[in-house]
Amino acid sequence: MRPFLKWPGGKYRIVNVIKARLPRGKRLVEPFAGSGAVFLNTDYPSYWLSDSNADLINLYRTLKSEGEDFIRYCRSFFIPENNTAERYYELRETFNETKDIVLKSALLVYLNRHGYNGLVRYNNRGDYNVPFGRYKKPYFPEAEMRHFYQKSRVAEFTVADFTEVMAAARPGDVFYCDPPYVPLSATASFTTYSAGGFSLEQQAELTRLAVMLARSGIPVLISNHDTEFTGKAYQSASITRIKVPRSISCDGSGRGKAGEVLALFGAAP
Ligand SMILES: C[S@@+](CC[C@H](N)C(=O)[O-])C[C@H]1O[C@@H](n2cnc3c(N)ncnc32)[C@H](O)[C@@H]1O
Repeated sequence: MRPFLKWPGGKYRIVNVIKARLPRGKRLVEPFAGSGAVFLNTDYPSYWLSDSNADLINLYRTLKSEGEDFIRYCRSFFIPENNTAERYYELRETFNETKDIVLKSALLVYLNRHGYNGLVRYNNRGDYNVPFGRYKKPYFPEAEMRHFYQKSRVAEFTVADFTEVMAAARPGDVFYCDPPYVPLSATASFTTYSAGGFSLEQQAELTRLAVMLARSGIPVLISNHDTEFTGKAYQSASITRIKVPRSISCDGSGRGKAGEVLALFGAAP
C-alpha cells in the first residue's frame, strides 16, 4: 500500500528490497519515519515511528486518534475552490499560523497534494514555503489514509532526534534508519526536510550508534546514497547495492537513477 503523503526520499518503490533485508523482531523502529513506506508494507507485531518533523508526527497522531472523522475533515479541503494559487497561499499561511493541531494536520495533507512536486520544505523561520503545484485534480488519498489509520493501532509516534530513539532501543527491536541522503557531491547539499539540515557528522553519529546497537544484539538496517562516504562509513555492515529510479530530487542532482545502498549492521535476515 502506498503512503498517503508524498515525501522526499520516500521508499515505497524499493520497499520489497528493504523488506527482504530486514530481520524479524518484536518491534520495528523507524527513527526517520517520513511517509512510513516501510511501516505500511511490513508485518511486525508493533512499531515505533519517530521523526524530527513535529507537523508530520502530529498528523499521524491525529489520524490515529480521530480516524474516520479526521479523514472526512481532510477531504473537505479537496474542493475545486481550494485549487487556486490564491487559496493555496491563504491556506498555507493558516497552516503556518494556527496552533490548532487538527486543522494544521489536515492542512498538511492538503498542502502535500496541492503543493509543488511533492516537495516538503521549510524556511529558516520554520515556515512551510512550498509553492503552489498547479495540479488539474489533486488526488485525495482516502484509501491510503484509512490503511495508515488501521495500521496505526500497533504503532506509537514520537517527535525526537534519531539519537534519542536509538538510545531507547530494547531487546527484540529491529531498526530501519532512512536518514536524509548524504549529498552525491560536496556541492549538492540541499537536503533540508525539516527546519535545519542533516550534516555528515550526524551521518557518522548514526553509523556509530548502529554499530553499538548491533553489538548489543539489535540489528540496524540503514539506507543511503551509494557514495565514497557511505562506502567507508558502512564498511563493517553487510551491503546490498540497488539502482533506484527517483521522481523527487532532494539533493539537487536532478532526476534519474541514483545508486542506493542498504547496510545491515548485526544479524543476517
Ligand atoms: C529520507 S526521509 C525518510 C523517508 C521514509 N523512509 C519514507 O519512506 O518516506 C528522512 C526523514 O528524516 C527526518 N529527519 C531529518 N533529520 C532528522 C533527525 N536529526 N532526527 C530524526 N529525523 C530526522 C526528516 O524529517 C525526514 O522525514
